[in-house]
Amino acid sequence: MLPLNKPILGICYGMQLLVEHFGGELRGGKGREYGRAKLHLKPEVIGPSGALFYGMPVTQTVWMSHGDDVSRLPADMLAVGHSDDGVVAAMVHRSLPIAGLQFHPEVNHSEHGEKLLDNFVRQVCRAKINWDSGSMLESTLRYIRESVGSANVLVACSGGVDSTVAAALLAKALGPERVTAVFCDTGLMRKDEVSWVSNALKDLGLNHVEVLHSEALFLGQLAGVTDPETKRKIIGRLFIEEFERYASGHKAEFTHLGQGTLYPDVIESAGHGAGAKVIKSHHNVGGLPEKLKLKLCEPLRYLFKDEARQLGAQLGLPAEMVDRHPFPGPGLAVRILGEITAERLHILREADAVFIQALREHGHYHEIWQAFAVLLPVKSVGVMGDNRTYQMTVALRAVNSTDAMTAGVGDLPMSFLTHVAAAIVKKVDGVNRVVYDITTKPPATIEWE
Ligand code: XMP
Repeated sequence: MLPLNKPILGICYGMQLLVEHFGGELRGGKGREYGRAKLHLKPEVIGPSGALFYGMPVTQTVWMSHGDDVSRLPADMLAVGHSDDGVVAAMVHRSLPIAGLQFHPEVNHSEHGEKLLDNFVRQVCRAKINWDSGSMLESTLRYIRESVGSANVLVACSGGVDSTVAAALLAKALGPERVTAVFCDTGLMRKDEVSWVSNALKDLGLNHVEVLHSEALFLGQLAGVTDPETKRKIIGRLFIEEFERYASGHKAEFTHLGQGTLYPDVIESAGHGAGAKVIKSHHNVGGLPEKLKLKLCEPLRYLFKDEARQLGAQLGLPAEMVDRHPFPGPGLAVRILGEITAERLHILREADAVFIQALREHGHYHEIWQAFAVLLPVKSVGVMGDNRTYQMTVALRAVNSTDAMTAGVGDLPMSFLTHVAAAIVKKVDGVNRVVYDITTKPPATIEWE
């Protein structure tokens, strides 16, 4: 990139690459920062001459996720921002339009990140703004028509926002006759979800909706498996095998598999470039087999969840569907730590249903971006009546986010949480302890596996 002589904004690792390139030094493990941090900018860079930081407050909240930091800046670079821990958080080149940020302006938890990116695009690069969310619908429909041609598409639906929006987009672009929505019941769904999803898909106006009953297959292959990545890989493979099996036995000649893959799924499965690290293999990206018989059509692959929701609303999908909390494709498999058994699935389903129902009843469901229960592989001692118990632990997770790339802890009242804990222990046999996860992403992820 550097010989091209274009403006460059290096973010996180990108800033560290610039430091090395210009002859500075990095150190490992000393200035680690994860999650919320305070950025202090030099006052002179927020004035009219400091294009990148123009109009930003001197002190602001930013989101960090790094283990290495700068120990010596190159002579060509000037530090213009530090974190509370004294880490170089922003630097600019002394004469070229090159800058580096240790924090992540692209995530919503960085208070003024959008303004900074806007400054970079308009003030530094002098780019013309010729894209808006209105044109997103048109360009997505065009992409579908161009990539699918006159073929028929089988779209893999989970009942979540992403795959439902993808199905609705495909039907709008190609007409409902050419799209078949297939929902695979993996046995890993939440309480009452299978009937809810199949009804919701039928209500979308899709002409062809199929439910595959694959519980025995999935649970059989997952028996005894405890490693999170192995679970994800098995589920990804089985999904595809099931969809391919359905497609090959069907009279409509499907050439494409439609999926609701979002950009964060691609990033975390390291599907966006050589050298990227796998955080977790999202079932629809990293879990795919090498050779797919069907070609993929992923209309949301470069979009984030909030954009998928915008598209859903533009397409007229019901709010109940568009505003649903996200649910991962691998389902409860990644919320049962350790082995997946029928008994553990039952316990988790019941505990999760108590939590979600309480969120709705107390008016918290829409204040929270995603909430769920997790079953831990830990037993602990309790007392019920006069008896000692030795039973399982459920963790509750509630997060706020816009795009799942970062997440804050859901600020639920303690009185509400203790009410839910009491209700779970009372209603769900086999659980005697409930804990609340108070970790942001990063350093944790939203799901536990
Ligand atoms: P993590 O745990 O990576 O989750 O912070 C970010 C968001 O993605 C969802 N998630 C998935 N969604 N397939 C999906 O469709 C997957 O394999 C998958 N893994 C995580 C998760 O629920 C959260 O909303």
